[in-house]
Amino acid sequence: MNAQLRPNDLRHVVDADKAHVWHHLIQHKPFESQDPRVFVEGKGMKLWDATGKEYLDAVSGGVWTVNVGYGRQSIADAVRDQLVRLNYFAGSAGSIPGAQFAERLIDKMPGLARVYYANSGSEANEKVFKMVRQIAHRHHGGRKYKILYRERDYHGTTITALSASGQPQRSAQYGPVTPGFVEVPHCLEYRSQFGKVDNYGERAANAIEEVILREGADTIGAICLEPVTAGGGVITPPVGYWERVQDICRRHHILLHIDEVVCGVGRTGKWFGYQHFGIKPDFVTMAKGVASGYAAISCAVTTEAVFEQFKDDPGDPMSYFRDISTFGGCASGPAAALENMRIIEDEKLLANTTAMGARLMGNLRELQQRHAVIGDVRGIGLFCGAELVQDRDSREPAEEKRVQAVIAECLAQGVLIGATNRSFNRFNNTLCLSPALIATPADIDRITATIDKALTKVFA
Ligand SMILES: Cc1ncc(COP(=O)(O)O)c(C=O)c1O
Repeated sequence: MNAQLRPNDLRHVVDADKAHVWHHLIQHKPFESQDPRVFVEGKGMKLWDATGKEYLDAVSGGVWTVNVGYGRQSIADAVRDQLVRLNYFAGSAGSIPGAQFAERLIDKMPGLARVYYANSGSEANEKVFKMVRQIAHRHHGGRKYKILYRERDYHGTTITALSASGQPQRSAQYGPVTPGFVEVPHCLEYRSQFGKVDNYGERAANAIEEVILREGADTIGAICLEPVTAGGGVITPPVGYWERVQDICRRHHILLHIDEVVCGVGRTGKWFGYQHFGIKPDFVTMAKGVASGYAAISCAVTTEAVFEQFKDDPGDPMSYFRDISTFGGCASGPAAALENMRIIEDEKLLANTTAMGARLMGNLRELQQRHAVIGDVRGIGLFCGAELVQDRDSREPAEEKRVQAVIAECLAQGVLIGATNRSFNRFNNTLCLSPALIATPADIDRITATIDKALTKVFA
């Protein structure tokens, strides 16, 4: 632990937290008898909590966020300099970092042209849902209002984002949700809905078309998909899938919305996940890695063709995108994002992500050979998952409490890993790994060695 930190001084902080903070996504009853975890410092891939315990973070801040690692002085400096110059004006006007980041971003996204700033992944997705609805109203007589989403994908926490949730435990008890969202089948070959087939990717994409034909293509405005499903179990798309999806969208005039909230800005070894698959999106949303958690910023990026549809009739006072996000005007977000992008470029972190991702996948495959409980390993770049099963033949998912025991054991050994969590009724059984893009071979090997020991202990 850093010498400046004195664990005993932090007792009152932990007590205040325990008394007053309502933490995200966690049952609080245990905190009546034990302390919540409070993190106090981070540097690179390492974190320290209030007890002084050191951790290697294999999940980039828990949820795939801190892509360039903790303690980046240069991002803090860039944000500070911007804040003292100009912290804020509403997004109806521009800012220097807002314009500069948009230009740099668009440079990395051929075919796309416009950046709409907001604060969270959910919010960026909602912006696109609103754009799709407004296009339907203004250009299709209100008909093309439906939005398709995929089983196992997640697009955010607000009621409308939950309407597009393919994870039943995320939306359970929060209904009624927003109408007009329709689910299409997942594309996880390991859990094939068609038995063992040679062309699973095409079949899974065709299943989307079946939904389109059932609903009526003239009622569907867009489909929202993660390029690689994240919290739904790290689902890399099967061969042939994306080509077919793109073709289906084109034939039925359905706009393609790619949710890059997790994959975006380097996580998969390219700037964007969709760039692995030759996809030509109409919308791309991003959040977590945009500023690596140094500022709250998200972006909804779209094509000039979409943008044009919101300025074609200036005489109509209702014709433009009548949306605002107060804090989408914070200049700290794009200031942090610009420096975050510079770091990724100058430190060649995309190449490192590809190399370290390959090492992580290799190590996981090796573990799979020795631990029968690992049914499947999946991943791309520093974005990997290992699905745990009770039995390799039946593929019956491992019990959630044992999956959680693996996480607890890694935590005890000082390595933070994650798992699909309160997402599915049966499939909260995939270990999730997403170290920062700065990970070294030693970091990767320590993560998998720790999982190795934890699996042995929990499943022996
Ligand atoms: C793929 C995806 N989209 C959207 C979101 C929502 O982002 P936020 O929590 O910033 O609203 C998440 C969050 O985990 C996500 O994984």
